[in-house]
Amino acid sequence: MPRFGVLGSGKGSNFRALAEAWRTGTLGCEPVIVLSDNESAGILDLARGFEIPAHFVPPGPFRTKMSPEAETEIVRLLREAKVNFVVLAGFMRVIKEPLLMAFPGRILNIHPSLLPAFRGLEAWRQAVEAGVPEAGCTVHLVDAGVDTGKILGQASVPVLPGDTAETLHARIQVEEHELYPRMVREFAEELRA
Ligand code: GAR
Repeated sequence: MPRFGVLGSGKGSNFRALAEAWRTGTLGCEPVIVLSDNESAGILDLARGFEIPAHFVPPGPFRTKMSPEAETEIVRLLREAKVNFVVLAGFMRVIKEPLLMAFPGRILNIHPSLLPAFRGLEAWRQAVEAGVPEAGCTVHLVDAGVDTGKILGQASVPVLPGDTAETLHARIQVEEHELYPRMVREFAEELRA
């Protein structure tokens, strides 16, 4: 069964959806390590609850990316865990060369917009502020750009009158938790084919 590592910075609800699908035997692949750039991220506690090894990796001095040393350490941990691919689940830093080169075409991300619309931070807030009638989420492969890689799948939700950034994000997250396990399962199936 393909093995994957997870990188996340926050509460980890997408990781939880993946781990629950794995636990019920419907994911077709196995999360074997969880790494975070944020020592107090909920995703680390969640992982330990699922008895998956979880580590904080100090990100270095930059805000939007990891230091080359930090990325190299992440690659080392992922290789040591013998992962076949990598899943970003709310990881809030741009991925650079050491990690991209180690897993070319094998890093997945979920982004809370219908890409190519609203790349970057707080895409749900960008959607509310732009007044669009529809928002959603996208699973895509990670390349050297910001939210620019090949799109694997999307799910849409309506933007309703009176929506705030928070209510819209909550509606998008319901779709994320269904879309991401489905896309990860399909990706793992292709790896096995
Ligand atoms: C998710 O909505 C995810 O799409 C977004 O962060 C949230 C993480 O939630 N990711 C990005 O914005 C990446 N640019 P979670 O920690 O509960 O999974």
